[in-house]
Amino acid sequence: MFIKPFRVLHPMRFSYFLPTRLHFGFGTVEVVGAESKGLGATRVLVVTDKIMVKTGIAQRVTDRLGGTRSDTFEEVEAEPRIEVAQAVADMVRSRPYDLVIGVGGGSSMDMAKVAAGFASNEGPAKSFVGSNLFTKEPIPSIMVPTTAGTGAELTVTSMVTVEGHKQWINSPLLLPTVAVVDPELTVSMPPSVTAATGMDALCHNTEAYLSTLASPITDSAALEGISVIVQSLQKAFESGTDRIARESMSLGALMGGIALQAKMVYGHSIGYTIATRYKLPHGVSCGLPLPYIISNYAVACAPKMKKLAEAYGVAPSKEPQSLGRAVAERARSIATSVRIPSTLKEIGVGESDLAELSGECLAMYPRANSPLVFDGKSMNQLYHRMWDGDLEA
Ligand SMILES: [Fe+2]
Repeated sequence: MFIKPFRVLHPMRFSYFLPTRLHFGFGTVEVVGAESKGLGATRVLVVTDKIMVKTGIAQRVTDRLGGTRSDTFEEVEAEPRIEVAQAVADMVRSRPYDLVIGVGGGSSMDMAKVAAGFASNEGPAKSFVGSNLFTKEPIPSIMVPTTAGTGAELTVTSMVTVEGHKQWINSPLLLPTVAVVDPELTVSMPPSVTAATGMDALCHNTEAYLSTLASPITDSAALEGISVIVQSLQKAFESGTDRIARESMSLGALMGGIALQAKMVYGHSIGYTIATRYKLPHGVSCGLPLPYIISNYAVACAPKMKKLAEAYGVAPSKEPQSLGRAVAERARSIATSVRIPSTLKEIGVGESDLAELSGECLAMYPRANSPLVFDGKSMNQLYHRMWDGDLEA
């Protein structure tokens, strides 16, 4: 394992691209009607899941469409398989839809984003797995998140599960036209979903901050995101109707979406190796490694640790390693407070599985933007520490 020479953005050079029109705040779901009209929609495909239909949240969105015709694809599942992406492709190509609206968590929004792309790009869904494979402009899309976590309403990525492995469909063309982030729609989220999605948002902000692709724009968003999530996650978990906590969590998730352009480091990679095998929600699978990532990256990201500690509400100290350890312990206590498991042992991973998991992590989910470069041995050691609950770097 070695550390890349760390430049604190000097000489400063970065790009940032976010064309999505954004509306944030209680009651903003109202603007869906005006946005849809402004986009000239005549036939809308709503992409969502059965829970959103059953709870009436999908209808709260479609009610805003006035007389515009709409159909609903409600077959989105958690961690959607490529077969679900194919089903949504078949549906969006079956009629002349000119607007897609995604209503739900990351899975629904990811499927809505690819649906908008499939409407104007031919070929089977699996031929788009990878980067930059859409060539034609998608039809317009509006994303309405109902969780506070993924930030998918502002990202270029859709995740799909292909033969049990998490894969990406990436394209800047997938950035939604409009994002409507209304915390009101998150109020009925059950505590376990609040916890998992909230931890996902905390991971996005933290991992983006530790990435070599971080810029002052993503850092500002990430630090604000961490700060509001640290103060609000437990409140939103314990009291779902706490509107201030819900608003803060939605804001923290949104900041995570902005920060995500710096990309994730190895916390999300580790999460992908355990999510499908141990049937964990995405936010649980990446929330578990978060404290270990912080303590391990502290020396590699030494110049940035003081601000990270402040955002986590941890008293600053000079030595990056001990500061990293203190921030990691804070992250672990936040995770524990919302019942996120903190060791691989707890989720049923056997010690004999660690070599395979750590090998898969490096082989399938490498991170060129990680300031910490792992080899097989150091990644295996990290998995052993996560198994045992050892936060030492
Ligand atoms: Fe995530």
